[in-house]
Amino acid sequence: MVYLVKKMEKKEKRRIKITGTGFYVPDKVLTNFDLEKMVDTSDEWIVSRTGIRERRIAAADQITSDLAVQAAHKTLKNAGLKVKDIDLIIVATSTPDTIFPSTACWVQSKLGADHIPAFDVSAGCTGFIYGLILSEGLILSGINKRILLIGSEFLTKVTNWKDRNTCVLFGDGAGAVVLEESHDNSGMLSTYWKADGKLGDLLSQPAGGTRIPATAQSIAQDLHYLHMKGNDVFKHAVKRMGEAAVAVLKKAGLEKEDIDYLIAHQANIRIVDATGRRLKLPPEKVYINIQKYGNVSVATIPIALHELNESGKLKDGTIVVMDAFGAGFTWAAVAYRW
Ligand code: ACO
Repeated sequence: MVYLVKKMEKKEKRRIKITGTGFYVPDKVLTNFDLEKMVDTSDEWIVSRTGIRERRIAAADQITSDLAVQAAHKTLKNAGLKVKDIDLIIVATSTPDTIFPSTACWVQSKLGADHIPAFDVSAGCTGFIYGLILSEGLILSGINKRILLIGSEFLTKVTNWKDRNTCVLFGDGAGAVVLEESHDNSGMLSTYWKADGKLGDLLSQPAGGTRIPATAQSIAQDLHYLHMKGNDVFKHAVKRMGEAAVAVLKKAGLEKEDIDYLIAHQANIRIVDATGRRLKLPPEKVYINIQKYGNVSVATIPIALHELNESGKLKDGTIVVMDAFGAGFTWAAVAYRW
């Protein structure tokens, strides 16, 4: 009996950990002052309403898989690994190279990762967290040993540059992590993921799928661009990101004061700040980099994670809560011990 209890305790403690981080953003910078020349807006409005000062724009000869491949190479290098060391590629994206094949398959080909499985996760800005949770299941069930999870986004390609409500918000970039089973005390402590498909129309790229296939009319109506009811999205994001963060803390048996860093999806500084306030966190525990990159959807969390990692702020035992919200609607969080 004692043996069984010990065995169960041991089993409960199995978790996965991040063994490499990295990211890539394109060189081209678009500032708020550049946007002032394109639409009726101002640096003052954008900074005060969103926290964004500038964003990166991918080059004309780049596509989403190129950004992902750059992030993948950097991440593998940081992890001290080669392409042959990974056995699955997951790409989270809302801006795939093609509807099919998946962007992950294009990435697999470009990396030369012959025949390892590859697929995309479509969960809006929450895709990276969904990918972490999926990876936990795949690794702990023994299906995969070492997963390359990439969040890559070319949002400026689906941005309507005439719509000041949305064009000031987004940027391009990719972030990645390597995931494997943890054999020490670190790793993913708890997870929480949810979706509400009834709210899908509040944030979508309406055309291009089977619902509204591409026609001259769909193009004329700008339906291939991102459409968003910003105010509604804002309210749901604040509510759901708070809910997700509180839920993962509870599941991990942690208190709010145990958090060292909140890495929240960088959609709007006011959403991130509100989530920090819900957790009663001082500002220095709430990681913010939206001023540099804007909203890069699935890439915001792995980019922030790498910046924190590279700066040496993630020490053994550091508790991080990663928390996201996105199209779908979807929302999810992970509590993590570094
Ligand atoms: N410059 C100047 N004025 C503007 C701009 C702009 N770029 N955009 C809107 N305005 C105006 C509006 O027209 C409106 O004017 P009016 O009062 O005369 O009608 C006024 O500013 C206020 O507009 P609101 O929409 O109420 O502004 P709000 O404070 O809500 O900020 C924003 C808008 C930034 C979009 C905010 O609602 C937001 O961040 N929403 C959430 C976005 C988000 O989280 N997206 C999630 C993920 S994205 C993804 O999944 C790919």
